[in-house]
Amino acid sequence: MATEQLTEQGPDASDDRGDLAGVLRYYELAKRAEWQVRDLPWGEVPPIPEYSGSPEKIARRRDMWRSVVTQQLQADELAVEMAAQLFSLAPDREAKLYYTTMVQDEARHTEAWLKLTDEVGGRGERDPYLDRLVEMTLGADTLEEKVFGIQVFYERLIIPRFRMIARASQGTVLEDLCNRLTVDDGIHHRSGVAYERVLLQGASRKTKQKLVEAGNRLLPVFVQHALWRPKAREVIGRLMRETDMRMLKEDIEHGVRLAKSFGLDVSEIRIPV
Ligand SMILES: [Fe+2]
Ligand SMILES: [Fe+2]
Repeated sequence: MATEQLTEQGPDASDDRGDLAGVLRYYELAKRAEWQVRDLPWGEVPPIPEYSGSPEKIARRRDMWRSVVTQQLQADELAVEMAAQLFSLAPDREAKLYYTTMVQDEARHTEAWLKLTDEVGGRGERDPYLDRLVEMTLGADTLEEKVFGIQVFYERLIIPRFRMIARASQGTVLEDLCNRLTVDDGIHHRSGVAYERVLLQGASRKTKQKLVEAGNRLLPVFVQHALWRPKAREVIGRLMRETDMRMLKEDIEHGVRLAKSFGLDVSEIRIPV
């Protein structure tokens, strides 16, 4: 009996610990990549791109950039809450240690966006679908659903958006911040993939099934979020529709491939685009 238990649990348990060592490596990586809000080039370069032209044109452009900053501020404010929840729920020491860095990262991102918001004259419009998505994720039953939704899915797809913003805002504080967030969110994503593998190795069929069901509930709201534009970017939204749809489709398909690589049965996933 004892031998049986040993052979049954032994290799699995040590494999899990081995994979957790992988999660711990992201803790060390995150510590090395840490930066401070004061490291941004405040006062040396403009906060957002500057334009010449009529006062109306300048005001329109400012509103547009303010809406970009607002959306990212909203996302990082919510990320603080989600990272704190992951930190408090994760049962493994290695993951908990890693999440201490993610909570700090998201808080620091929020600090930078708040400062930038002040520099551009306050907040713009809030994305109601992002609020809904986060509410659903915070209320999810299992840690597996949360790690998948936040780190595996969302943290990856925000990266190309930061690259797009950085390209359009060269020589500004905004560009510098987006470049830093690309690095940080890359770590948030990869650490989540590593931890989700550990979690799903030991997960029951029921937990896996619930994850797929949660995906089907989240995806339609995610589509609304991805296609939503505040008034200040309505025109650009129409021009970008094709690019948005293409990126959205690729993001969802990539998410489904990742889910499959975790051994999830994705045949029941309904792609809403
Ligand atoms: Fe962030
Ligand atoms: Fe993040």
